[in-house]
Order: sequence, then C-alpha cells, then structure tokens
Amino acid sequence: MTTDFAASPAMPPGRPVRRRRRLLLRLLLGALALGLVAVLGLAGLATWLWSQADMSNVGQLRFANQLKIPPLLEPRLDGAGRKVFDLRLQAGTSELLAGRRTETWGANGAYLGPTIRAARGDRVVMNVRNELPEATTIHWHGMHLPAAADGGPHQPIQPATTWSPSWRIDQPAATLWYHPHLHERSEDHVYRGVAGLFLLEDPEANSLALPKDYGTDDIPVILQDKRFDEQGQLDFGEPAFSPIGRLGDQLLVNGTHDPHLTTRHQRVRFRLLNASTARSYHLGFADSRPFDLIATDGGLLEAPHRTTRVPLSPGERAEIVAVFQPGERVVLRSFQPNLGLGSLEGRFAGADDTFDVLQVRAGSELSGAPPVPDRLVVRQRLDQAEAVRTRRLELNGSSRINDQRMDLGRIDQAVTVDTTELWEVANRSGNPHNFHVHDVQFQLIDYAGRPPPPHLAGWKDTVFLPPSATVRLLARFAGYSDPELPYMFHCHLLRHEDNGMMGQFVVVGPGQAPAGPPARHGHQ
Ligand code: C2O
Ligand code: CU
Repeated sequence: MTTDFAASPAMPPGRPVRRRRRLLLRLLLGALALGLVAVLGLAGLATWLWSQADMSNVGQLRFANQLKIPPLLEPRLDGAGRKVFDLRLQAGTSELLAGRRTETWGANGAYLGPTIRAARGDRVVMNVRNELPEATTIHWHGMHLPAAADGGPHQPIQPATTWSPSWRIDQPAATLWYHPHLHERSEDHVYRGVAGLFLLEDPEANSLALPKDYGTDDIPVILQDKRFDEQGQLDFGEPAFSPIGRLGDQLLVNGTHDPHLTTRHQRVRFRLLNASTARSYHLGFADSRPFDLIATDGGLLEAPHRTTRVPLSPGERAEIVAVFQPGERVVLRSFQPNLGLGSLEGRFAGADDTFDVLQVRAGSELSGAPPVPDRLVVRQRLDQAEAVRTRRLELNGSSRINDQRMDLGRIDQAVTVDTTELWEVANRSGNPHNFHVHDVQFQLIDYAGRPPPPHLAGWKDTVFLPPSATVRLLARFAGYSDPELPYMFHCHLLRHEDNGMMGQFVVVGPGQAPAGPPARHGHQ
C-alpha cells in the first residue's frame, strides 16, 4: 500500500493506519455480505419468478361445476327476410369462482355472449348495442363480408349507441367467433369477457353424419385463461417477463371454472375456440385416446385426421369428434404447447404449462352414432399459378409488421378484388406470434418450408408462427371492394396486436386506387 494516511491533515494522531485498515476491512466485509444477500435475493427472486411462471391446474380440480353452454341467440325476421340478431354489450358481475362475484363484461349477459347461428345464403343484420362504459367494436372473426361490416378498429361503437351491419353469409359451414377489436383495447375488452361463437351451416355439412345437436352432442368449448386477485377480481397486473402479455393460472371453459360435461352420447363433437388473449394450448385427452379432427378455422377438412393432439393458438378453432365408453370419465387436457422457444423464453410464454380443461362424464347408457365419414367435403383448392402477386410480411419484435407499427391513418396494402394472392409471412423475431387476416379464409402452400401438416391443411384464417418460421399462404379476395375502408391483418396475441403488430389492407376494384387514409372515426 502506498497511500500515506499520515499525510492527511484530518488524521488524528495515534495508530491511524491500523484503524483505517480495520475500518476498511469492516466496510469490505459489510459490502460482501450485502452483495451476497443481493445475489441470493436476486437468485431467489429469479427462482421464484421462474417457478411462478410454470402454471398448471392438473390434479387440482374437482370438476365440480356443470359446463355452461352459451345459449343460442334466436333471430327474428325483418320485412326483407333478413335474420336480425340483437346483441347488447354490458358490464355486470359473474360468479366465475365459487362464491366470488367478479366484475365482467359480456353480450346479453355479464360474461361472454350467446352463440349466433346462421346458414349459407342467409342475409343477416347484427344490432350491436353498446351499454359498456367505453367505446368498443365487434369484429366477426373469420367472416367474409364487406369492410364496413367487419367491426375492426374503424367501426367503433360509442357508449349508448347501436351499430347495425348487414351482409349475406357466403362461405362454407364453420365455427367462427366475434370479439371486440378497438384500436389498442382488444386485449382488455376480450379479457373482460366479450366474446362469443358464430356458427355457420350449409347443406353439404348438414348432410354429413356428424354430431350436430348444439349443446347435446355438439359442444362449444371456449377456452380462456384468467388470473384473479385476492378479491376475486380479474387481475390486470403485468407479468414479470412474459414476451406475449398476460397469462392466467386459472382456466375457464364457456365461463365455467372447474367444469365437467355429462353426456349420453357415444360420439361427441367439440368445437374448440382459443379465446385467450395470449395463451396457446395443446389439446388432447389425458389418456391420449385418438380422436378425429374434422374442421379448422374456416370449415370442414376434406377427410378427418385421426390424431391425439391438436395445437390451438389465440383466435384459432378446431372441431374434433371423440368416442366415449359407457360410465367412463376422461379429462380433456392441454399439454405443454410447442412454441418453438428456448427453455427460458418458453417458460415465460406458457410453454411449460398444462391445464385440465374439462372432465367428460359418460352416462351408463350411451346412444350410438355412426362413425365419422371417411370423406367430409370437397374443398375448392386455390391455385398458386393464379396468384397475381406475392406480398411479404415480416413480423418484427412484439409490435411491428414490416418494421412499422399499426397506424389507423395509413393503408399498408391494396389488393384487387376477385384476385388470388400469395402472402409470405415470416416471423423475424424471437417471440412467438400468429397471423390472422380479415375477410378471407386462406390455404397454406407450405409451413416452415414443409407441406402443411394435416391440422393446417384446411381453411384457415389464423396460423401460429414460432420464431424464424415462414408460412406461405394463398387467399382469394372475392366479392367486396371498398377503396376507403380497410380490413386488418395482425398477430392475434392481443397484446402484440394492441402494441401495433397489425396492418391495414383495402380491397379495391380493378384499376382503382385506394382512397387515401381513412378518416379517423370518432375514437379518442
Ligand atoms: Cu379475431 Cu382482427 O381478429
Ligand atoms: Cu405476436
């Protein structure tokens, strides 16, 4: 040591060097101890966060509650022969957890909304009355319709007003759904509970020997994860590290916590909808019995796909038919989803999570039903040779597409009506995403460089994209054009959508130019 303590004028006489050394030593030990505590604390915190991020209810449920079935919404006919459906968006309280009143939102009730059913060829009018305390929208997810009826961020419904879009149903039988789509508020509004099914029928599907008695052998399964605070209210707190937004540790099916379904049918069709804001599921039965996957987002597959698991990212649907034996009990479960992430990011994105979804209790006598037909429908195939153009869309970070955030006043793409296009969508981020397009159902040409697997081979409107995956899809933009009002394409992980991972496209007439950025309608 070269420091000359004695040279310091403030140093008292005596043994300054030793005293100083002792002091230094103490300080050093103190600092070491503090550092150790900090390191241990951080490690402890990290361990705690790590373990908190692993969510499962497997083994914790009693399946105490009978599965709620959302009621079918009866339409009335207007003078023009149109089916008129009335939806009232409202706030209220729901008993989501036993003995707790939770503040929720819903349609025609306090949580979720009724199931709407219409047939191909029907002309429908949807009266959506907003009795919520703030503006929202209702988007008809998966529906082919005019842009003005789409219910995206350009059709806000102010409180105490009614929005009444109308269109003609013209697409195959399918399980679609509806949910809010207000700019930057989708996650919040869906999480509060506004969502419902929109089932489409057609004669071809009706003629098939498939379970189709709603609520009896044709069961809706609306999957949502929630987190509750100590008061039993929905927890809007932010997760520590989640790259995808809020993930819940409790599962609701059709708004039912801890549910079971009693059935008297040997064959049951389940219409699975992932209405979660961020969580992906990997569904199958606890005993890994095989089932038939018969339909995806946009309708029936050409042939049933026999499998034991079906992955479902937010917004996606799948229809399965399962067979039960008299008297048995079997659990529909979500296994660990493959999100294509490393173990660290995966943990915080729900890749390690498992959930018991629903216990099926088969009666002692079951009415039989014919097996699922070998062939379902003949699907018109979109032809890559007919694609008039290729667009490349890159998903960046957690809030951008082609390096831009969503801007209501910017039209990103213009498509000519009645043409087929090839869209190449690439996940260029380290986060999981999916990709949803309004107005159309698409067909995949390839998925991550391979032919699409069976569960992605049918009509789709939403497709999961793990990091660095690219998907090429074909879509035909038939019928409706509007140079001013756009449709959306976006990630359906709603936090990402709200953050700006969304773009706008208009469908224009041949030779027509987009009419420029649409006026900013009402909202904020
Ligand atoms: Cu289900 Cu643009 O949304
Ligand atoms: Cu995303």
